Amino acid sequence: MNRLRIYNATIVTPRGNSALAGSDMANVERLPGSEVVVEDGIITHVGPSRGDLGSGTDIDARGRVVMPGIVDSHTHLVFGGWRPEEFGWRLRGDSYMSIMNRGGGIVNTMKATRAATRDELTHKTLALLRRMAAMGVTTVEGKSGYGLDLDTELLQLQVMADINAMPENPVDIAATFLGAHAVPPEWAGNPDGYIDFIISEVLPQVKNRNLAHSCDIFCEKGVFTVEQSRRLLTAARDIGFSLKIHADEIVTTGGAELSAELGALSADHLLHASDEGIDAMARAGVVATLLPLTAFTLREPYARARRMIDSGCAVALATDLNPGSCCSGSIPLTFALACIYMNMSVEEAITAMTLNGAAAIGRAGMIGSIEPGKQGDMVILDADTPDFLPYFTGMNIAAVTIRAGRVVYDATGDSIYLNS
Ligand code: NIG
Ligand code: FE
Repeated sequence: MNRLRIYNATIVTPRGNSALAGSDMANVERLPGSEVVVEDGIITHVGPSRGDLGSGTDIDARGRVVMPGIVDSHTHLVFGGWRPEEFGWRLRGDSYMSIMNRGGGIVNTMKATRAATRDELTHKTLALLRRMAAMGVTTVEGKSGYGLDLDTELLQLQVMADINAMPENPVDIAATFLGAHAVPPEWAGNPDGYIDFIISEVLPQVKNRNLAHSCDIFCEKGVFTVEQSRRLLTAARDIGFSLKIHADEIVTTGGAELSAELGALSADHLLHASDEGIDAMARAGVVATLLPLTAFTLREPYARARRMIDSGCAVALATDLNPGSCCSGSIPLTFALACIYMNMSVEEAITAMTLNGAAAIGRAGMIGSIEPGKQGDMVILDADTPDFLPYFTGMNIAAVTIRAGRVVYDATGDSIYLNS
């Protein structure tokens, strides 16, 4: 048996097998002087120390917090090329949509992704995953959506499956099919035709090969309408996909309301979600996934996290890492923006990046909290209180990352806090 024991820890964790909503999001336990034992990847004990178990790895976490591994539940992490020139145009005043409308944006990355090989995509993605593990991420959601044709959409998803099968992979990937990310040049002027193509030609192949758990769409003015989104997502749901939706990011379209109507796992972005949409999501139990790094880099107003939590929504926080609107996977900065600008408490932000992130990808029964029966995914912080997460603004305080009881990142030698 493979055993890992972390002792002398201050365990900080939400509890449960589903998203915490509204005021429950603040229910994060702090258990000083505790230990956690992981056997063959699964947590078997959380509580007072039972002493040396004789075999396996022991980690002394004296003076440190141990919290659930971070679940980054919204990223676009498999792509070819980069778009630094578009970032420069935005700095000089161009809007994200104006760049997209003149052929840049997602279609720009589509060209680079279609030109990339399976090997190139795999190595680039693995390099990104190692950066994520260094920030305490143990599970990441990854979307397709830069192929926009049958072969390249399948390739993006296959790359994620390949990486999940590699023993050296530090972060588990939950794949989402986002074929409806933009209208590709082949279907210019015919978004309905493209949606028909996805429903009849691509979705069934993704399903048959078991390459994605969820189906997503970019529901936005000038991209796909609410009606087109309803059509695709209903077809996806009918063949067994869970649903996610990029909703109300640039303007208010009613995407939040649609997510509630369809019983989606999550609606994401929501910078311009209406009051009715927020209330409908709360009633339907849709996780509101907020992406403050995108608002920050696009100079848009932050999503109304307080309004959502106070209305009884379950909020998740994720990075939206992608080569365009938000070329950042920074967990520390996400934490800081959520607490400083979205008025979330440290406890709410922890729940949002662990248990609620897990719920947003349908895995809250398996990961997202430190409890017996869950997978042993944890991060040890270089601090004795989680209050350092936003206080060390934009600075990484992950000391050790553990996935399924295996150390995948270790920077304990570089402690600032314990050496001070
Ligand atoms: O979540 N909004 C749509 N999709 C991404 C951006 C993708 C890109 O610009 O390449 C997002 O922000
Ligand atoms: Fe996104």
